[in-house]
Amino acid sequence: MDFGMKNRLSRIIKPKTGKTVMLAVDHGYFQGPTSGLRNLKDTVTPLVSLADCLFITRGMVRNCIDPRSDVPICLRVSGGPSILGELSNEDIITSLEEAIRLNVAGVGMSIFVGAKNEDRTISNLGRLINEAERYGMPVLAVTAVGKEMGRDTRYLGLACRIAAEIGAHFVKTYYCEDFYRVVEGCPVPVVMAGGKKIPEKDALQMTFNAINEGASGVDMGRNIFQSDNPVGMIKAIKAVVHKGASVDEAFEIYSKK
Ligand code: 5RP
Repeated sequence: MDFGMKNRLSRIIKPKTGKTVMLAVDHGYFQGPTSGLRNLKDTVTPLVSLADCLFITRGMVRNCIDPRSDVPICLRVSGGPSILGELSNEDIITSLEEAIRLNVAGVGMSIFVGAKNEDRTISNLGRLINEAERYGMPVLAVTAVGKEMGRDTRYLGLACRIAAEIGAHFVKTYYCEDFYRVVEGCPVPVVMAGGKKIPEKDALQMTFNAINEGASGVDMGRNIFQSDNPVGMIKAIKAVVHKGASVDEAFEIYSKK
């Protein structure tokens, strides 16, 4: 890995702990003004200084993020379908040139293993990586969005491993039982997506389990920004990810208003 690639990746995955708390706010690229992100600027502004990185689209970076903020950006560069269409029908829609102009630390796209356009999305990942490597730009592969296959260790292990084989520099997936097996089969860092909103204590427990089973952090959205205390929740998640806090300790942090 060359200097630029390593340098960008260490802006996302913090060298001190080897972990990251990415705040995912890209949901609107296929879901529109989803709950908690109707006014993205209002939601994200109090969280920006607490997140290690934002996972976000270019339109929201341009319109909702203060360019003077030093939060690293991982730019979602894939898209195409809406929630009303075939989710796997994605292509790369944001150029690497744009990513560099926005001074981002990484780019991310989804692959849809087991879905209708599996082959196209995996080929697109390969093409994005070919181009990104020329500029030292890390690529995050997002796996397992949609309902096509069960989110178990076999499926998530398959999707993450394929992403790593194609050359993704880090991978995002969902939590499952025996998550350590997913991590074991994937030689690049795995970050956990939070999924649908669940009670805060359960989300903290899931994060605690993922970290203990080898995750390199989280790229979490709804369980932070749909919480009744998003600032408390991101602080609590950070305590688990970076400081090894217990679920009870973290819940206490979340509960402080
Ligand atoms: C959807 C994404 C989201 O960023 C990802 O699902 C993380 O958000 P959440 O924690 O709300 O699941 O990549 O395509």
